[in-house]
Formats: sequence, structure tokens, C-alpha cells
Amino acid sequence: MEISTLLVECILIAVVLYTAYGVIYRLYLSPIAHFPGRKLAALTFWYEFYFDVIRRGSYVWEIRDMHETYGPIVRINPYELHVADSDFIDQLYPTVAKNVEKWSWSAGMFGSTDMTFGTVGHTLHRRRRGAFSNFFSKASVRRLQPVIQSRIDVLCERLSEKMDTGEPVNMVHAYSALTQDVITEYCFSNCRNVLGMQDFSPWYYELVQKPSELSHMIKQFPNMLPVLNLLPNWWVRATSPLFAQLRAQQLEYVSQVHSILSHNDETGSESHPTVFHSLRDDDDLPLSEKSLPRLVMEAQSLVGAGTLTSTHMLSMTTYHVLINPPILSRLMAEFEEAVPDPATLCSLEDLERLPYLGAVINEGLRISYGSVHRLQRVHPDNALNYKDWIIPPGTPIGMSSLHMHNDPAIFPEPRRFDPSRWMGPEKELRQRHLFNFGRGTRQCVGMNLAQAEIHMALATIFRQFGTKMQLYDTVRDRDVDVKHDFFVTNPSLDSRGVRVTLHSNNPKT
Ligand code: HEM
Repeated sequence: MEISTLLVECILIAVVLYTAYGVIYRLYLSPIAHFPGRKLAALTFWYEFYFDVIRRGSYVWEIRDMHETYGPIVRINPYELHVADSDFIDQLYPTVAKNVEKWSWSAGMFGSTDMTFGTVGHTLHRRRRGAFSNFFSKASVRRLQPVIQSRIDVLCERLSEKMDTGEPVNMVHAYSALTQDVITEYCFSNCRNVLGMQDFSPWYYELVQKPSELSHMIKQFPNMLPVLNLLPNWWVRATSPLFAQLRAQQLEYVSQVHSILSHNDETGSESHPTVFHSLRDDDDLPLSEKSLPRLVMEAQSLVGAGTLTSTHMLSMTTYHVLINPPILSRLMAEFEEAVPDPATLCSLEDLERLPYLGAVINEGLRISYGSVHRLQRVHPDNALNYKDWIIPPGTPIGMSSLHMHNDPAIFPEPRRFDPSRWMGPEKELRQRHLFNFGRGTRQCVGMNLAQAEIHMALATIFRQFGTKMQLYDTVRDRDVDVKHDFFVTNPSLDSRGVRVTLHSNNPKT
């Protein structure tokens, strides 16, 4: 036998033995081999790949089906468990400073682990988050009210221009412009002014939304992004205008952060404090944390997180209120009593005291989910107990708002948009099952800002245009309901958006 043939045979035998060992290990020897679930999912990541990459962010629904078959705890890939039981939230997402990490494989889906959102280790995460969390405290957000209100006023002016023209306005783009303007102003004191652009620049919405569509692919193939980044600009421009635009935008972030770091942009300190001027001046942050590449990633992630989630919540809530005339009438009645003159503004504190607005917002949060993606955590130091199960230390475990927000025992008829479920004595219990902002030490840091934007935008827009807005060719199944999990929730890829027309004499009121 020739040496080369012998070598090929040896390699083949080694591959077969290695694969056989892998199969036996994953199915029978792994520390989580005894947890229930589909064998194929336990055996290979290709199962998850099929649902999340080929069938575009749909593994979360397959996981829901697994729970129906196997119960509240299932194994969903070779390493990871998933729990569908809200009673487990406090154990999985502790609020006290306990060593809790993200799962590095999954954190890679954000394209980098340099930003707070994607940081794996507990201590590093505390340091990064601590450096800017003050900006998003309730008190800081209260001080930001004039900035938020001024952008909402611009949005209302733009909506007025469309009155009686019959021209539809895409509220997804409108809200995306609003939230992007607010977060870019707060981060850099350099508002992007998307609200001033033609049709609220759908392009700017796509620039934050499209990267999320790639997140599953990036998770499965972590080297994909560095390879794509090597492609020459001329080739990218010729083949993908969107990718070319993303690159251009990345350069904008680089120049934005660079001018702050090099003290060439001091506008922030003059008008209002901004996140990035403050990070630069934070003497407790080591220089490595203030490097240009890291802060560029932080900037991108803050703008993305501050835009998409609030946009989806606001557009879905707008749809559900407009499609339900009794809900609209009750909301309008509350506004008319609280704010007799639509031109007079109400403070955020006063808006937060309006019970029906609060109920509409809670129901809007419930039905829009926040992120339906499982929020994995790893407890490296201790085992967790779920019912009779002992989950070994270091096991990634996730939970998803999809299951919690649709639990008929807590939210009867979960598909129905019903703010009244938040008006009764069960409100407190239901609140504990609301998982939009996650929970624990990694809970959404922008939660107070999001709540302020949502209260102020819904109040101002509905007080002025509630009875003048009419839905335009908006179909719940096609345009509104969540159909894809790209970490952020996404309606069907065929969605035309939540669109409205504005009429000074609305025949429907
Ligand atoms: C309705 C609006 C929003 C929803 C539903 C939402 C949802 C979430 C969720 C579920 C997480 C936790 C992710 C995890 O556990 O892995 C999160 C984290 C985060 N969110 Fe939000 N978010 C919203 C608005 C905002 C806004 C306006 C900002 C602006 C700054 C923001 C910035 C962040 C950041 C920086 C994190 C990472 C926090 C950390 O890891 O410590 N979010 N968000």
C-alpha cells in the first residue's frame, strides 16, 4: 500500500472516530445530556442554524414547540438550556452583584464583545455599565425632557404637513427618526436630524435594522465579519449599496468619537452633558476602555439599542390603539381631561400618573415583547436548581419574553390588545411577568429613557392627532406582528410598515 493511501485512510478513520466520540459525548456524556429536548438539537448547531439562518430568526418558535412537547426546561443545542417559567427569572437574572456572565458564543452575535451590551465577563461588564449608567437614571432622563420634547415637536410639525394630503406616513420610519435623533443628541450632542429628512429617511432606519438581520449568521460564523471587513470598498460599493452605506456610517462614528476624544468637539459640554464627553473625561476608566475602536462599538450599540426597540414598541402600540376605537376614545378622554389645551405640554411626571396611558403602554410593551430572543446567562460558580433539575455551573441558560408574554394563565387571550388587564388588582402580578427590558444586573440600561420617550411621544402625538389619524393599508399579520427574531423583534420581511393618513375632519371619529 502506498504511503499516501495509508495516510488518507488514517485521516478518514480519525475523522470517523472523532465524529463518533462527539456524537456519543453530546448525546450521552455531556453534563446536560439528561435534559429533555430534540436529539438533533442536542447533537448539532446546524439544527439552530436551520431555523435562525435559513428560516430567518424563527428558532424561538421552534423552542416554544419543544416546550409544548418536553415541558418547561429543554436542551436547545449542544451546550444550552432554555426555561419557559417566569418563576425562574429571579434565580437566572439576579439583581445583586453575583458573578453572572453572558455566553461568549452568543454574545458574538452583536459583532463585537467590546461594547457593554456584548460584554461577557461580570466584572468588566460592571465597570463598563457603571461608566455611563448615571446618564440613564430617572433623574438624568427627567433633565433631558426638553431635548426629547423638542424632537417630538419637530415630528408633530412634520405630521401636520401631511394633513389632508392623503399621503401616507410610515410611523415606523417616523418613530425611528425620533428615537435616533434623541439618542444621537444625548450621546454626542450632535443630533442626526433624521426627522428633518425626506420621509424620515427610511434609509436611516435600514442602517440600524439591517445589521440585526445578520446577527444569527455572525453568531454561527464568528469569522465572517472580519472577512467581510477585508473586502475592498470598490467591490462593496458595486455589490451591496447597503453594506457600503454601513461602512460609510461606521466611518461617521469613528470621526464623531475621534473628534470628542481629541477635544475637537466641545459642543456637548456647552449645551447638555453627553455620554461620550463624559466617558472621555472619566478618570476612573482605564485608557484601554477609552480607546477609539472600543468607544466606536459602544456608540454603535447605544444608537442601535436606543432606536429599534422603542421604534417597534411605539409603532405597534400606535397600530393597536388606532385599530381599536373604544381604546382610542378612552385614551383621548383621559388626555382631554388631563391636557385640556393640546398646545400645552404635560410634564413627564404628570404623564406617568395617567392610569389609562400607563395601561396602554404596559399592554404595548407586552405585545411588542422588546426582544423575543432568549437572554442567556451563565453562572460559572454555582449550580442552579429548577424544580427537580440541577443545572451544572457554567451552563448557558436562556428565557424569552415570547413565552412569558403569551402565558394565557397570566395574560388571558394573549393575542388581544387589552389595556384593561393592567387596570385591575392583577396588575402587580402581571408586571412581574413583563420581560421587555430583561432583568437583573444586565437589565436594559436605557429603560428610563425608553419609558420617557414612549410616554411623551404617545401623549403628544395622540393628543394632537389621535382623532385625525387613520390607518392606511396596514395589516396586522403582514405589517405588525412579530415574525422574526433578529435579537430585536421584526415584523414580516414583507412588512410595509404601520402607515397612517391624517385628516382634519376624520370621517371615522
Ligand atoms: C422599548 C425600548 C427598549 C427595550 C424593549 C429594550 C430592551 C432591552 C433588553 C431586553 C436588554 C437586555 C439584553 C440582555 O439581557 O442581553 C437591553 C439592554 C440594553 N439596552 Fe435596551 N431596550 C430599550 C430601549 C433602550 C434605549 C432607549 C437604550 C438607550 C441607551 C437602550 C440601551 C441598552 C443597553 C446599552 C443595554 C445593555 C445593558 C447591559 O448589558 O448592561 N435600550 N435592552
